[in-house]
Amino acid sequence: MTPSVRRRVRPSTRHAARRRLALGAAAVVALPAFSSCSLLDPPDLVVYNAQHEELLDEIVPLFEEESGLEVKLRPGKDLELANQIVEEGEDSPADVFLTENSPAMTIVDNAGLFTEVPDAALDNIPADYVPQSRTWTGFLARSTVAMYNTESMTAEDMPASILDFADPEWKGRVGFSPTGADFQAIVSAVLELEGEQATREWLAGLAENGEVLQNNLVVMQTVDSGELDAGIAYHYYWYRDREENGSDSDSSALHFFADEDPGAFLSVSGAGILAAGEHQDAAEEFVTWLTSTEAQQAMADSYALEYPLNPDAELNPEVKAFDELEPPSVDIASLNGPQVTELMTEAGLL
Ligand SMILES: [Fe+2]
Repeated sequence: MTPSVRRRVRPSTRHAARRRLALGAAAVVALPAFSSCSLLDPPDLVVYNAQHEELLDEIVPLFEEESGLEVKLRPGKDLELANQIVEEGEDSPADVFLTENSPAMTIVDNAGLFTEVPDAALDNIPADYVPQSRTWTGFLARSTVAMYNTESMTAEDMPASILDFADPEWKGRVGFSPTGADFQAIVSAVLELEGEQATREWLAGLAENGEVLQNNLVVMQTVDSGELDAGIAYHYYWYRDREENGSDSDSSALHFFADEDPGAFLSVSGAGILAAGEHQDAAEEFVTWLTSTEAQQAMADSYALEYPLNPDAELNPEVKAFDELEPPSVDIASLNGPQVTELMTEAGLL
């Protein structure tokens, strides 16, 4: 890692200089009122965002309006952005990193690149969704589910455990999307709960039985059309479709695994502040806002239908209630992305 030679400028000084520059420029050419992120107007906060793009595009303007800060969102995938931040090290332009699932947070955390999240943010989130290091926080959760086709199957036909999909009776009947960070997070939970050998065997069974699909939407469509009896994904894909027009979910239903089965794994989306980021104050303000009742309620009210983690926010009652889920207890800081990739490659799933 190259030593950082960048001069740290206190945010207040930087903002004042930027405003003077912008005012000067405005006198020469009339800048449009919302000229976001032009050369003359660098952002106040850079967020590397691996959560769903549509969700952040929807809620970030609320923060910008309230704080007066301008946010630059750089979209990407969990592991791709985590690895990029580690590669960039102290020279990374990222101030904040948001993920879909926690294994990507752990990669950046293990590289020692996060700083502590302020107490004001952590006070909003139950301790189960904050790693002991307090270097990042969960801000949304997603439940693992199996979708099943209601013309070929009933709820009673569904297995008690997600591990059962590796059994020969499921040959040719189950689909999933192994290249996605969502499915890989589920595998990381199986690895944490069941150990390496059991995970290896489960993946071998899935590789034997399963249909590898492009993404979770395709999993839902393939199950709904009846091409497959069942598929593994997260809860919100199906609920979103019900909310929209139901065309990809009207011949399917959700099976929630119970009794702390690995298939009831609750995956946590994380938010962390980069220690070397240039805009520490803005980063703290943003992450604290993200955990606030207001932002959590805005996310709960959005199209997303993921579970807010601030207990004062309420999700659409159509979605199975958070306190009715029976997830296994998993230390969110322990999920191992790189080992999962190795095991899945070994099983021929990647
Ligand atoms: Fe997803």
